[in-house]
Amino acid sequence: MDTDKKLSGISWQDFKALPLTEKGAYFDGTPPHTLIAQQFSRKKIRDLCALATRIKRINKRREGANFLKTLLCDKRAMLYFAQPSSRTYLSFNAACQILGLDTMDVRDSSTSSEVKGESPEDSVRTFSSYADMIIMRHPKGGFAERVAWMMAHTKREIPILNAGSGADQHPTQALLDIYTLKRSFEKIGGVDGKNIVFVGDLARGRTVRSLAWLLTLYDDVTLYFVAPESLQIGRDILDLLDAAGTRYVVTDDFAAVMPDADAIYMTRIQDEWDLRGESSSIDTSSFRIGAEHMAVIKDSAVIMHPLPRRQEISTEIDNDPHAVYWRQMRNGMWIRAALILTTFGRQDEVNQYYDDYKPEP
Ligand code: NCD
Repeated sequence: MDTDKKLSGISWQDFKALPLTEKGAYFDGTPPHTLIAQQFSRKKIRDLCALATRIKRINKRREGANFLKTLLCDKRAMLYFAQPSSRTYLSFNAACQILGLDTMDVRDSSTSSEVKGESPEDSVRTFSSYADMIIMRHPKGGFAERVAWMMAHTKREIPILNAGSGADQHPTQALLDIYTLKRSFEKIGGVDGKNIVFVGDLARGRTVRSLAWLLTLYDDVTLYFVAPESLQIGRDILDLLDAAGTRYVVTDDFAAVMPDADAIYMTRIQDEWDLRGESSSIDTSSFRIGAEHMAVIKDSAVIMHPLPRRQEISTEIDNDPHAVYWRQMRNGMWIRAALILTTFGRQDEVNQYYDDYKPEP
């Protein structure tokens, strides 16, 4: 970590112009912010995943749950969700509850002073007067970064966690996705060497954009981007993969790559970003998975989805052992708890408790 890199010491224009891979170093200060997938190292991910599993095990017993609830009882979090959310909002909220952190929320800007003409910047500054952390989702790409930069120029800098920004980043979803992959492949050599197949709206799906980057941290993985041409992954992501030396294949032939997949990451069409309803005319019938494909995929393959889904995964396979999207969703709660605890620097208390009491798996 380069400690000279402080958000308070750089102008917004200079910061904004930095490549993603250089921005990360600015978020590791005190307090740390979680804003983009590019700020994570493999070690950081390993530590967060290990902590998530420990929290989960400790929470199984009443005395453990009571201990966890004391850890952040002196803190409050603001959940500011200016875009729809079910899982991200609820899992963050549940993660806060597990750690005893009280929460407040604004889920709809029309209920805040923004309707009176207050800028989103001023709204966030207001939240920071009452809370010790802001967990935020916003339709404007880069807005969470702007808020963190702004915070660094106030006397009360509090950590910002990006819970989804525009169509570009969803770093905590990428963390829960990696956690799910690591747990799924625990007995078969981990994430290294695996073929990860992304399917659907890869042009506008922020979860894929963030996860693709995290996968560059693993050795010998191959990423397959399977989509109709107009929904294919952006050149900017492919450039990042090229620079990282990560192998990838861009194709529209889902059937051809299915048998080689270790993980199939399905996504929905993100038509809320359509300008003129253009995605309604795209034929997506070959970008779905159902019962008829279960015999084709590897025995060890897992099917994931950030959810919500539409028709891209048939409900017939919801209870199939390959389907891990329900577990993936729950993993979000544990990894977010680990991230929140680490953001406040309280992770050692969990590690100490775990070593003292060794809760059963
Ligand atoms: C995703 C999102 O908001 O980007 N949902 C989520 O956080 N689990 C995916 C989506 O909306 O399609």
